[in-house]
Amino acid sequence: MRAEKSGYAHFMLKEIEEQPRAYRDTLGGRIDEQDKSIVFPDMLMGLEQIRDMEQIHLVGCGTAYHAALVGKTIIEQLTRIPVEVDVASEYRYRQPIITKKTLVIAVSQSGETADTLAAITQAKLSGARVLGITNVVGSSVSREADFQLMTWAGPEIAVASTKAYTSQLIALYLLALYIGQSKGSIEQSLRAELIDKLNKLPEQVQSLLANTSQIQRIAEQIAAFKDLYFMGRGLDYMVAMEASLKLKEISYIHSEAYPAGEMKHGSLALIEEGTPIIALATQEHVLEKTISNIREVKARGAYVIGIAFEGNLELAKAADEVIYVPRTDALLAPALSVIPLQLLAYYTALARGNDVDKPRNLAKSVTVE
Ligand code: G6P
Repeated sequence: MRAEKSGYAHFMLKEIEEQPRAYRDTLGGRIDEQDKSIVFPDMLMGLEQIRDMEQIHLVGCGTAYHAALVGKTIIEQLTRIPVEVDVASEYRYRQPIITKKTLVIAVSQSGETADTLAAITQAKLSGARVLGITNVVGSSVSREADFQLMTWAGPEIAVASTKAYTSQLIALYLLALYIGQSKGSIEQSLRAELIDKLNKLPEQVQSLLANTSQIQRIAEQIAAFKDLYFMGRGLDYMVAMEASLKLKEISYIHSEAYPAGEMKHGSLALIEEGTPIIALATQEHVLEKTISNIREVKARGAYVIGIAFEGNLELAKAADEVIYVPRTDALLAPALSVIPLQLLAYYTALARGNDVDKPRNLAKSVTVE
């Protein structure tokens, strides 16, 4: 079936707006509400194989790599299995330690990225089991992998990935919960709580999409800048990397993402009067630290736009302005905080008159190494 723009100016905006549906479809049929547990009728990874796993390696490219980075934190926290993450094009050249008890998870929207396929080949040669998380039924990654977990984002046409990234996050949340419940490493009450919060995400995303006027206004302002930085701690840093990539890809504004605590070790030198910085602060266990990093950049003249959960008044005092997202568990925050940042990239590219769906020099799927 050919995807149509259905009245939208761009596929990217349509795909951003499809996210509540994509979340529901990726969650769909995988939660037993009675038991508050995860069921994967489509994955076929046996309990024995899960119990056997000693380590997990996640590989992917671009946006899929950024989803994998979130996956590492989630999987480690919920399963206590050590996880490494690699950019797929680097994986086989660093001679990773792969054993028969390694699960390699390849994340790829298209399932056709050459670097990711090469990483799978390396993993299989070394005796690992491979799980593919892809969005395309019958793709090369899903055929090469021993197990597969589909994301049900639907066809993604815009080069800049949006709904595929967030549905990869949803798949990784489900996977982490599934491994956690199989290993007994996660309390039943925490599992039930996270499942309830996962179920709420689609309507929370819908509420974020309902009012974009603040983001459009900020986009008009930042469109004039040459450089923009993102910062955050923990999962906020992972989302900062994805937000920075999104902005670069389609607005062509130079952008970097930094762990907030690292700014003082060099990057502070880049800050000038008025430099825009987007500071993510959903990880409230490190809020005080992030706020002190915001003070450091503001003291050097930065204009700080914060991203925080509703009700976070401390950030409102520290930043110049705040974009609020609905409250959820800290582990699930990336699935909400990225939404305004996708919209920000979109409206900034639009304000600069760029070809949003087909940015220069980039391809949707890269089938050469
Ligand atoms: C290309 C696209 C990116 C994408 C990456 C990985 O570079 O422009 O948006 O994240 O490939 O693609 P995959 O299909 O493997 O997720």
